[in-house]
Amino acid sequence: MKSFLNVDDIGDLSVALAEAQEVKRDRFANQQLGKNKTLLMIFFNSSLRTRLSTQKAAMNLGMNVIVLDVKQGAWNLETERGVVMDGDKAEHLLEAIPVMASYCDVIGVRSFAKFENKEDDYSEKIIRQFIEYSGKPVFSMESATVHPLQAFADLITIEEYKRKERPKVVLTWAPHCRALPQAVPNSFAQWMGAADVDLVIAHPEGYELDEKFTKGAALITHDQNLALDGADFVYAKNWSAYSDPNYGKILSRDMDWMITADKMALTDNGYFMHCLPVRRNLIVTDEVIESPNSLVIPEAANREISAQVVIQRMLEN
Ligand code: CP
Repeated sequence: MKSFLNVDDIGDLSVALAEAQEVKRDRFANQQLGKNKTLLMIFFNSSLRTRLSTQKAAMNLGMNVIVLDVKQGAWNLETERGVVMDGDKAEHLLEAIPVMASYCDVIGVRSFAKFENKEDDYSEKIIRQFIEYSGKPVFSMESATVHPLQAFADLITIEEYKRKERPKVVLTWAPHCRALPQAVPNSFAQWMGAADVDLVIAHPEGYELDEKFTKGAALITHDQNLALDGADFVYAKNWSAYSDPNYGKILSRDMDWMITADKMALTDNGYFMHCLPVRRNLIVTDEVIESPNSLVIPEAANREISAQVVIQRMLEN
């Protein structure tokens, strides 16, 4: 695997899920694979889970790890070609990428949508430059439009907790105080659309996601209660508008979309999921996230597993 952004990059999902279980059985079985190899993790944005779980996964594989917080100590990076660099950006990404690549064997990049230019965000302009100019395997640690390590961990979790061969999985928009990217819902929809589940997506009007990611959904509705009816898994997430002319904007703050105990009562004793970090009593009530049906902690723990499968594949290449 040379790059990891989309579900197609991982191939057969049943094979990937089997590899995840192999890693869980013995996460130190491939310590030799990463010996004397280095993972470079580059963060243009903050992280808790991705940073720790991916570092732990690389350590499980015997790798050395370098973490670069671009905003804390690195030169401010210019990302546009043709710019007269007389401002606050001292180094161009086109030099920085091959330099960074010379110190490592595998690269992870976190670079969120900037909401300045939809075309730049949806062409994955930053991480695509790493793929093109580094000469090293590159994986997304949440880039502008996708968060595949999260979606893979979510799928591992659903596989572990499902009580039916083909569970009903609901991705529902929930309210938030800030404009958030579409990366998590895009990837969740894409991965669930490819998995053996019935995916239903619920959101208020104006929050339609890119069809490229949602085409595998059985139903997309503006009726959250309809979506939750009989659900086995409820995946709550806020996202900002994708469609023009409202790209990156907040269109609704409707608190009726928050996941409450009453909403969960519509499900088939369904599990609650969220990628974290989550703003309590905006997205979900304390009661639901603290309930026995909340999977947020095992879901986060599976981030180590999804990262390890991906890095392992890159090292095997
Ligand atoms: N879910 C997730 O990616 O968490 P972090 O932003 O803390 O890495």
